[in-house]
Amino acid sequence: MTDILVAKIGGSTLGSRDTTLKDIVELQRRGVRPVVVHGGGALISDWLARHNVPTRFERGLRVTDGEALKVVVAVLAGLVNKELVASLGALGARAIGLSGADGSLLRASLLDPKLGFVGEISGVDGQMLMGLLDQGLVPVIAPIAMEWQGERPTGQLLNTNADSAAGAIARALGARWLVFLTDVPGVRSADGQALARLPAEEARRLMESSVIEGGMIPKVEACLKAAAAGSMSVVVDGRQEGALLSALEGAAGTVVG
Ligand SMILES: Nc1ncnc2c1ncn2[C@@H]1O[C@H](COP(=O)(O)OP(=O)(O)OP(=O)(O)O)[C@@H](O)[C@H]1O
Ligand SMILES: [Mg+2]
Repeated sequence: MTDILVAKIGGSTLGSRDTTLKDIVELQRRGVRPVVVHGGGALISDWLARHNVPTRFERGLRVTDGEALKVVVAVLAGLVNKELVASLGALGARAIGLSGADGSLLRASLLDPKLGFVGEISGVDGQMLMGLLDQGLVPVIAPIAMEWQGERPTGQLLNTNADSAAGAIARALGARWLVFLTDVPGVRSADGQALARLPAEEARRLMESSVIEGGMIPKVEACLKAAAAGSMSVVVDGRQEGALLSALEGAAGTVVG
């Protein structure tokens, strides 16, 4: 395994007074090579409302028409991405903000026409990211992908689920850790308690019985795939002090798979 960490920062924890960015810089100082993937759910909903663009979710995925896509790209690849880059910069890291369209980092195909411009990731240019990591940069990735049909990019941008993007990136890089920073203590089981460990079969059962639902589904699915490929996969409360450092030690959150 590599010394690469893929950390997905949930839109649900963005802006809360957490130590995640500080933890990322500290981990880099210790020799870990961090890659950040971010969401932006709440902020996107806020900006969509400001522009009177209605949206709804199906199975945890935002139905994205042409108007919604413009706001999603502007907020995710613009505002959220650059604020994260600037904040990491202020903490002493050299961060580089990218969308999945930049350098053809993320390829995707339409997931389901009913969802609009929502993509399912079909390819990740891991080598490009390795080049950035080799220069000591911290890639900060907005989950916007380019649509490809066969071997050709169509020029269409697609909104992709940030959790699935983080999972695909972790697998492409052979990351040692995949950590989801979110707004709950971990994955809850039927009794409402966050689990310290969630083995694969139990995870599948909890998804079938809808104990795991909505925004937790793509996280757990990404964790299961990454864990099967050898990554330590954790869902942790990003609002807690030192959450990321504790997650890598298995001392906080839910280790999945
Ligand atoms: N079994 C479960 N255990 C814990 N949380 C769950 C479970 N099932 C569903 N959830 C929901 O998943 C949510 C986290 O996913 P959500 O998509 O809302 O946040 P995020 O992915 O961190 O942010 P963003 O989507 O903006 O990037 C929790 O707030 C919780 O309501
Ligand atoms: Mg989410």
